[in-house]
Amino acid sequence: MENISKSFGKVLANKNINFEARGGEIHALLGENGAGKSTLMNMLSGIYSPDSGSIYVKGNRVNFRSPRDSIQAGIGMIHQHFKLIDALSARESIILGERGGLFLNVKKNNEKIDELFEKYGLDINLDKKIYEMSVGEKQNVEIIKVLYKGADILIMDEPTAVLTPQEIDRLFEIMNNMKKHGCCIIIITHKMNEVMEIADRVTVLHKGRTISTVDKDKTTPEKLTELMVGRPMDLSVKRAVTVKGKKVLDVKNLSVLNEDNVKVINNICFDIKEGEILGVAGVAGSGQKELCESIAGLIPPDSGEILYFNENIIGRTPGEIIEKGISMSFVP
Ligand SMILES: Nc1ncnc2c1ncn2[C@@H]1O[C@H](COP(=O)(O)OP(=O)(O)O)[C@@H](O)[C@H]1O
Ligand SMILES: [Mg+2]
Repeated sequence: MENISKSFGKVLANKNINFEARGGEIHALLGENGAGKSTLMNMLSGIYSPDSGSIYVKGNRVNFRSPRDSIQAGIGMIHQHFKLIDALSARESIILGERGGLFLNVKKNNEKIDELFEKYGLDINLDKKIYEMSVGEKQNVEIIKVLYKGADILIMDEPTAVLTPQEIDRLFEIMNNMKKHGCCIIIITHKMNEVMEIADRVTVLHKGRTISTVDKDKTTPEKLTELMVGRPMDLSVKRAVTVKGKKVLDVKNLSVLNEDNVKVINNICFDIKEGEILGVAGVAGSGQKELCESIAGLIPPDSGEILYFNENIIGRTPGEIIEKGISMSFVP
């Protein structure tokens, strides 16, 4: 992409941007919110056209008028918000939009999809409906969909934002497999640890301009952050010194059932002392909500104890619990 500029009304989203990515590499496009990353890639995928500048794909100058043109040139973009239809199965979603669509030879489709699975280490249940899928599975469907259309240039817009750590590991494996097969992968991100883990090269955008393209191995998170925000930054988190005091909350062998009588919290124990921050980790739906609700007195636990300064608060009303000094906000 050469000297690309694009404005939206008075907002100049991209100013004379130069960007180049190669086959067989994972190229990170790094920049703060609003730096112009999505705009640039939307021009590569035919959603917008540049106000000025030129785009070359595999040496040929292109002039995309729609995403269809871009797909034809071998480019596939995985957007932040998936564009799948809930009622369709994975298989239907993948072949949808192909000439002949669902009336194509099923056996041939399946063979082609199997080949992709094998080649890139993908694995999903093709008969599963989109509405039954986790976010990670839906993302895999989107990836297979663009590969099925023949893409060898893949653009992923903040693909890890919606994934669990395990799903991110899987995605990175798939991306590495694509790279091994010569694909060009562009990952839009603002997460430094991901850049350091997965990218071969990094292009940094800042306020709509290209700042620099560097080899990952020849840079550091500190240098990249400085390029990204335009000034040096201290990445270390300064922790206040902890003075641990008395036990405030002591949760002992707590079990909680949900409305369907399913055990959503199974015999958990932890305590929190004065002056402490306690992290509760887990993918959404692991029981965080029920844990908070049982401490707040909103749902009665099945068994166990919740001690607040040594006094069991199970059985107290939410009002009484608030009066004791436990006030809580649950921000999922
Ligand atoms: N469709 C649009 N209409 C108006 N302004 C837009 C549009 N898309 C992006 N912008 C603006 O262009 C700038 C760059 O946005 P974007 O490319 O989405 O940045 P990034 O993806 O790096 O966060 C921002 O100021 C944004 O508000
Ligand atoms: Mg964006």
